Amino acid sequence: MTKAERGKALVTGASSGIGAATALALAADGWRVHATARRAERLAALAAEAGAVAHAIDATDEPAMRALVEAEGFDLIVANAGRGAAITGLSGFPPEEIASMIALNVTATIQLVAAALPGMAARGRGHVITVGSVSGLYPTGTALYGASKHAIRGLVRNLRLEGLGTGVRFTDIQPGRVSTEFYDVAIPDAAARAPIKETGIEELSPGDVAEAIRWAASLPPHVNISALELAPTGQAYGGARFAGR
Ligand SMILES: NC(=O)c1ccc[n+]([C@@H]2O[C@H](COP(=O)([O-])OP(=O)(O)OC[C@H]3O[C@@H](n4cnc5c(N)ncnc54)[C@H](OP(=O)(O)O)[C@@H]3O)[C@@H](O)[C@H]2O)c1
Repeated sequence: MTKAERGKALVTGASSGIGAATALALAADGWRVHATARRAERLAALAAEAGAVAHAIDATDEPAMRALVEAEGFDLIVANAGRGAAITGLSGFPPEEIASMIALNVTATIQLVAAALPGMAARGRGHVITVGSVSGLYPTGTALYGASKHAIRGLVRNLRLEGLGTGVRFTDIQPGRVSTEFYDVAIPDAAARAPIKETGIEELSPGDVAEAIRWAASLPPHVNISALELAPTGQAYGGARFAGR
């Protein structure tokens, strides 16, 4: 895809971390970027830096997100807004916390994509990029968060089939550990957070992930990167555990 063909992009969760870096990377690559998040001031600062249009909208506000998508007719959507939770066994989560995480990580993403697809299909082009996680591929000891990211991977895999022939592309980006505010938000207690957040390795930067997103979006229209897993060199997943050992 040439720079002249880049078109209009939406990045959700663009007030920090991966979303902010992606808005900057896409804008620098020729996309006309619209950015959403809840913290209006941070979003406005990012938008000014990127030359993007800011919309302070909660991703779970389906009517507002739908209105934005239908008004703008985005060529590229990066569904990035999401969060983790304090790591605990599943039964440690109150029902409302389970519902709240699924509402953001899963339902809001599905609703956003559902709102965008008819316009993309009618225009015969479009690209939906989700920010999933390695937790959507491997057990990472976080059943609730892992379930939410498995759902996103399943969504994208199925949309590849459903969307066949429409010209719309679907990509799930699956990062390992990225140095962002993710764990500060997920685990407010600093003492509980420290052993989980401090890895001692060189983690991915938000810019590393943004570059993967920028690249996938920049490829010619006949190339679909269905999934892209990336992790710090110093981090790996898998293995087996045995009770009592
Ligand atoms: N960091 C990692 O290690 C890692 C690894 C794999 C995948 N991920 C995924 O990467 C994505 C981005 O996370 P990050 O690491 O960049 O964390 P982050 O720095 O905490 O950024 C999260 C972004 O999501 C936005 N957000 C949260 N709740 C929202 C809501 N209800 N409505 C609209 N926006 C909302 C936040 O903005 P506001 O608070 O201003 O709304 C913020 O811009 C998430 O989907 C996460 O699951 C992260």
